[in-house]
Amino acid sequence: MADRPCPVPAPTGRSTYGPALAGTASGSAATQRPGVGTQLLASSATGAGLEARRFEMFEAQPEPSPQPESEPLSSQAQPTASTTPWPGALAAAERICVLSDIHGNVYSLEAVLREIRTLGCDRVVVAGDTAAHGPTPCEAVDLIRSLGCLVVRGNTDRYLAEGTAPPPGTRDPEQAVSLEWSRAQLGQDRLQFLGRLPHAVTLPGCLVVHGAPGDDERGIWPETPDAEIEAYGWGGTLLCGHTHRPFQRALSCGEVVNVGSAGWTLDGDPRPSYALLERVGAGPWRTTLRRVDYDHSLPLEELERRQVPWRAAVSHYITTATWRTPARTSP
Ligand SMILES: [Fe+2]
Repeated sequence: MADRPCPVPAPTGRSTYGPALAGTASGSAATQRPGVGTQLLASSATGAGLEARRFEMFEAQPEPSPQPESEPLSSQAQPTASTTPWPGALAAAERICVLSDIHGNVYSLEAVLREIRTLGCDRVVVAGDTAAHGPTPCEAVDLIRSLGCLVVRGNTDRYLAEGTAPPPGTRDPEQAVSLEWSRAQLGQDRLQFLGRLPHAVTLPGCLVVHGAPGDDERGIWPETPDAEIEAYGWGGTLLCGHTHRPFQRALSCGEVVNVGSAGWTLDGDPRPSYALLERVGAGPWRTTLRRVDYDHSLPLEELERRQVPWRAAVSHYITTATWRTPARTSP
């Protein structure tokens, strides 16, 4: 498996975004990244009979309107449908990595992608919230686009693309200022990219969404009751993000896997998280949640250097992986 081609570019030992991190939006100078430590945290085999059963309910949802001024989608292999069937035939054995909630942290993203490459992964799927709030929104979006992978639109991607703010009363008011800063950094082309993304991606036996099926602001938490998750009417492996709290749980209709966050987690462990899915033939997916270590001082320094709004909160999340207030609210 390790010898199979991988969609993730080979690491060069230098950051793709060195010059941007040194003070510009693009360029080619580089900064050496520290070594990446990894640890396997959890592994579980899903039971039999987990094939998708009712994905058609998601495929019936309306497609977003294309934007004529956008660049051709073929250049990025980006889907336009609300849900996107997996293209082509499946390999006899397959590995897929699903990551989510990068939130403009290209440093943690690079660490995750370095490890993914070592796994001999066939495909990468991103479950949304790629740009907002972090110190390097442009770099994170550009790196994801360079992979040509399937990407889901998260709620903050939608806020950025549509120019809307988070729902009033549910967020820290400074978050809106942070969104405006991220939007100004991204520019029209990247915002159009985020706006075109589907709200879900379907693969054989898998459904990938940002929050919950049909709702990008409703998280699936470790505390969410089984019946509430099963009521979404899916079957197989349901993968999501949004809450920044990774977990996996077997249910009567399959398995739910919250892949956590490749930007900053909120489960007390500050190492970014993602999910590895493996299966042979048409068998059930075996899902493993993984954690990756990296140098947290890099995004913290860049948050300060760029004077990113809401940086005190983001720095707290990156450093502690805990909420700043007792109330449970999604980022
Ligand atoms: Fe989100």
